[in-house]
Amino acid sequence: MQVLVSVASRHGATREMGALVAQELRAAGHEVAEVEPEDVERVDGYDAVVLGSAVYVGRLALGLRALVDRQGGQLRARPTWLFWSGPIGDPPVPMTVPDDVTALARAVEARGVAMFPGRLERTGLDLSERALVALTRAEAGDFRDLDAVQAWGREVAEALGPARARS
Ligand SMILES: Cc1cc2nc3c(=O)[nH]c(=O)nc-3n(C[C@H](O)[C@H](O)[C@H](O)COP(=O)(O)O)c2cc1C
Repeated sequence: MQVLVSVASRHGATREMGALVAQELRAAGHEVAEVEPEDVERVDGYDAVVLGSAVYVGRLALGLRALVDRQGGQLRARPTWLFWSGPIGDPPVPMTVPDDVTALARAVEARGVAMFPGRLERTGLDLSERALVALTRAEAGDFRDLDAVQAWGREVAEALGPARARS
C-alpha cells in the first residue's frame, strides 16, 4: 500500500518518531512517503495515512491542524492514524489527552491514536519557548521510548494487512 506519514515537529523529536514509524511500514512492504504537513496538497493518492505532531502549550502544531482542515474529508475516507509527542519528565507529565487531539482524532475518524513521551532540549528553543518552559518548570531531557514508537509502527503495519500493489 501507499502510505503517507506526515509529522509536524518544531525541534525534530517527533519527526524522528515519524521516521521510525515509516521504517516499520516499509519493513512490512509498504511504500511510504514522508511529507511535511505544509507540503501535503492532497491525500487521495494514498491508501492510508499516519499523522503525527508534538504538542505545544496544549495544542497540536498548526501545520497539522491546517492539513486536517484542508483534507478532512479525504482523511476520513481512508484509514488514518494519529500519534502525538508531549509529556516530558520521569514520570512524564502531563498524561492528559489535549482537547485538540480528541477533536482531530474525531475529525479524521482515526483508527488509532497514540501518545508518546517527548524530548525537550533547551538549546534549540526560541525566546518565547524558553520563557514558557521556565514558567512551567518543565524538565529538559529526552524521554522518548523509541521501542514503543517502533512497536506502534508495527501495529499500524499489521492493521493495514499485507502490502499489495496499488490498483
Ligand atoms: C514551548 C513548549 C511548550 C510545550 N507544551 C507542551 C504541552 O502543553 N504538553 C505537552 O505534553 N508537551 C509540551 N511540550 C513538550 C513537547 O511537545 C515535547 O518535548 C515534544 O517531544 C517536542 O517535539 P519536537 O522536538 O518535535 O518539537 C512543550 C514544549 C515546548 C518547547
